[in-house]
This record gives sequence, structure tokens and C-alpha cells, in this order.
Amino acid sequence: MSKTPAAGLGSVSVAAGLRVPASASRAPAAGLGSVSVAAGSGVTVSASKASAAASKAATDSPSAPAPAPLLEAENLSKRFGAVEALCSVSFSINAGEVVGLVGDNGAGKSTFVNIVSGVLHPTSGHVRFDGNLLDLANPAAARDAGIETVYQGLALVEMFDIASNFYLGREVLRTGIRRPLGVLNRRLMRNRSKASIEQIAAKFPDLAAAVETMSGGQRQIVAIAKAAFWGGRLLLLDEPTAALGVQESASVLELIRGLAADSNRAMIMIAHNLQHIWSVCTRILVLRRGSLAADLQREETTPEEVVAYITGVR
Ligand SMILES: Nc1ncnc2c1ncn2[C@@H]1O[C@H](COP(=O)(O)OP(=O)(O)OP(=O)(O)O)[C@@H](O)[C@H]1O
Ligand SMILES: [Mg+2]
Repeated sequence: MSKTPAAGLGSVSVAAGLRVPASASRAPAAGLGSVSVAAGSGVTVSASKASAAASKAATDSPSAPAPAPLLEAENLSKRFGAVEALCSVSFSINAGEVVGLVGDNGAGKSTFVNIVSGVLHPTSGHVRFDGNLLDLANPAAARDAGIETVYQGLALVEMFDIASNFYLGREVLRTGIRRPLGVLNRRLMRNRSKASIEQIAAKFPDLAAAVETMSGGQRQIVAIAKAAFWGGRLLLLDEPTAALGVQESASVLELIRGLAADSNRAMIMIAHNLQHIWSVCTRILVLRRGSLAADLQREETTPEEVVAYITGVR
């Protein structure tokens, strides 16, 4: 099954260099309303809470059955030879949550993300999404299910421009007599990804530029914008602020906060910087040597306590 990009993003704009789309052929999936981030340091955000209110009203109704968690990990384990990268990890995440996944180097964070995104197969255990057992045969299966991932290595093709990266593996062919020839509809892909990125980044320098000419922050914004563009209900962000400067981190975090305003979506963000985790996440999961060491609500914990769980003092 191939998906069309989400129209429900409304408009998201990030200054410092980026934006995300909403255009597209699909009906709005749970609109983000409008989020705008001013460039660089001076960040301003305005997000419509309409969809959040509507969804809250639905879930508050006495007759509404409790929704299934969006993601359920059940006893997930992954072994690489002698290394037990994940040991029977279980937790669930509801739509609307932004969960920080933290842990020391080698704790198993990327392994978890790679399993949920279909890159790795668990040695044992299951993943349920929206109540259904997922058969994540490959990354395309995860994307079709509604799981979009921004990998630690970004997975953008450096020599391609934004449009080519947005549609990588999901290219749109021309219709009519050229279709059997497999001719790409480059104009459509360019226009949609341009509209998308322009909504999120008021001052993106050059949409036709190859990714290799962009800064780390701009690359992150392209990767996150792409994930949002395709309408993922679960966004997995593996260290989106690693190696970014202060301003670029602020822009990326602002973009993530904007996307979090959509109560139909959940996000898992991995970061080593607890300030970054605190600025966007409402819940924190700590992995230590492949095991879940803590599952904490942000208001009920402190960075010191989280560090204690990361290091094993607790
Ligand atoms: N493909 C692989 N083959 C063998 N071992 C692996 C592989 N991927 C991960 N590992 C091992 O599994 C463990 C968990 O790695 P993982 O990449 O999930 O850690 P992480 O928490 O993401 O760390 P970091 O913060 O450094 O990114 C590590 O010991 C790592 O060396
Ligand atoms: Mg990692």
C-alpha cells in the first residue's frame, strides 16, 4: 500500500531554516492547526488546539471506550551474538504523548527504534500498533502502518534535493501514456515537498539544493518534515538534536513541539541532552543495558533522578 502525504499538518513553520507541509492529496488527518517558529533564536509558536480539544471531548465522553494504546511493546528482546541489546522491554504509549527515550551509549535506544521501524527483527517479543499486532517485515511495512522514523544517521541521500528525499522510495509516476515507461512526476513531487517545507521554514535557503550543502540543523528539519509530511501517527526521532548548535537545536525542538500539538500523534524522541528532553517530552523512559530502568512522568521527576536511573545509581 502506498500512502499519500498528510494534509492534516495544517501549517508548521520554523524560522532558522525550515518548514513542513500540509498540502497533499489526502484529507487532513488530525490537523495540527498552525505552528510557526521564528528563525533562530527568536522562536514564536502559535498552534491551534482545535483538534486536541475535539479529541479530548471524544475521549471524555462517558460512552467512549478507552482507546487502545497507540504503541505497545511486549517483552521485546534483541540479541546480537553475545550482546543482549534489549532484554524483555515492555511499555505502551498513547496518542498525544511525547516520550523521551534516554540511556547511556549502547543502552539499546536505537535498537528499540530500529525494531519498531522495521529495520531490525526482535529476537522475541511483539509490537502492537493501534491494538493490532504488527508484522514489521521491513521499513516500508512500518511506514504503511503509520510509523515514520528519523534515524540516528538521518537516512537522507546527501546528493539529492529536498523533493527527491521526501519521495525517496515513494516516487510518484506520471499518468497517461508515460506511466508504463515509469517516468517520474518530478513537478508534482517538487511542488508538494516545496509547499511542505516552506510552511515550516520561512527562510529555507534553497529548496533545490542538495542535502550535502545543508547544515546539520537544516538536514534534521528536512528529515523531520519528511516524517510529518507522510502523516505518521508515530514519529520516532533518534537523536534529532545531536551535534547541533544552540540555535539549530532550538529550531528543531520548536518544530517537534509544534508537531506534538496534534493529539492523534505520538512521538518518541531519543536525546542525551536532558534539557532537550525536558523541553518537549511529557514522559521519560530510561533504558539501562537493554532493560527498562524507569518510566517516569516529567512532572514527577527531576533530571537528577533520571541521571541516577541512567547511571545505575538507582
Ligand atoms: N547491528 C548490530 N550488530 C551488533 N551489535 C549491535 C548492532 N546494533 C547495536 N548493537 C549493540 O547493541 C547495543 C545497543 O546498541 P544501540 O545502538 O541500540 O545503543 P544506543 O542506546 O542507541 O546507543 P547510542 O546512544 O550510542 O546511540 C550496543 O552494545 C551495540 O554495540
Ligand atoms: Mg543510538
